[in-house]
Amino acid sequence: MKIGVFDSGLGGLVVTKAFIDKMPEYDYVYYGDTANLPYGEKTSEQILSYTVAAIKFLVSQNCGLIVVACNTATAIALRFLQQQFMPFFAPDVKVLGVVIPTVEEALSYNAKKVGVISTRATTSSMIYRQELLKINSELEIREIASPELVPAIEGNDFAEAKKISEQYAKKFEDMDSLILGCTHYPLVKNMFRECLPQVRIISQDELMGDKLKDYLQRHIEIDICLSRNSDYKFLVSEWNGAYQKVASTLFPDIPIKKVEQNV
Ligand code: DGL
Repeated sequence: MKIGVFDSGLGGLVVTKAFIDKMPEYDYVYYGDTANLPYGEKTSEQILSYTVAAIKFLVSQNCGLIVVACNTATAIALRFLQQQFMPFFAPDVKVLGVVIPTVEEALSYNAKKVGVISTRATTSSMIYRQELLKINSELEIREIASPELVPAIEGNDFAEAKKISEQYAKKFEDMDSLILGCTHYPLVKNMFRECLPQVRIISQDELMGDKLKDYLQRHIEIDICLSRNSDYKFLVSEWNGAYQKVASTLFPDIPIKKVEQNV
């Protein structure tokens, strides 16, 4: 069985790269639902239904472990998937998200004022606030949505992304840590770091590789079911040249393909 990685678009490739860099021997299937991007601007019902369809697709691709790399899908759908959907649909398949590992990483240093930048749907769900406060109820938290950033990154317009990042970075100048709570934001992490040298920037590409490795070491029963042929497949629900350009910056040799059947 393979490791599935799901995102609403191409941002999750950054997390996939972190997995492949740490654990190149496994087989990976990436699915980016580019036809329905941006999830951050959709209703909870839509996000839930797209995410369930994506998980069904990855199960059909023989994935035994699926990482929902999309923060928005994690925020809205992960609990439903883990507690209600998967136990009936595919009880042997594990589905993991990105929010809890990110929160754990953010609080592994003595953080007191934590900023979170994410999509509108993630911000409204308040998932980061809830999970951060569960670990430390004294934290000062500031969550801000930046809906303009994902379209600029997906469109490969990094000049625009820089302008937007600078504008949002200002809102977190007085925080000690800032969680980049969206799979696309690692692609602009250096812009945030330049604007906020005094703030610890938590970027999921720098933590998820170790977190998944640690998970597999602790769950041998899952690890032994995973195939290891270094076979990587990257699929999207809608293809265009800009997507291929963004993807090529991370994986120059691997083509992004549109899935044939409707997901
Ligand atoms: N991938 C999504 C996330 O991590 C952001 C992009 C979107 O709005 O679809 O939240």
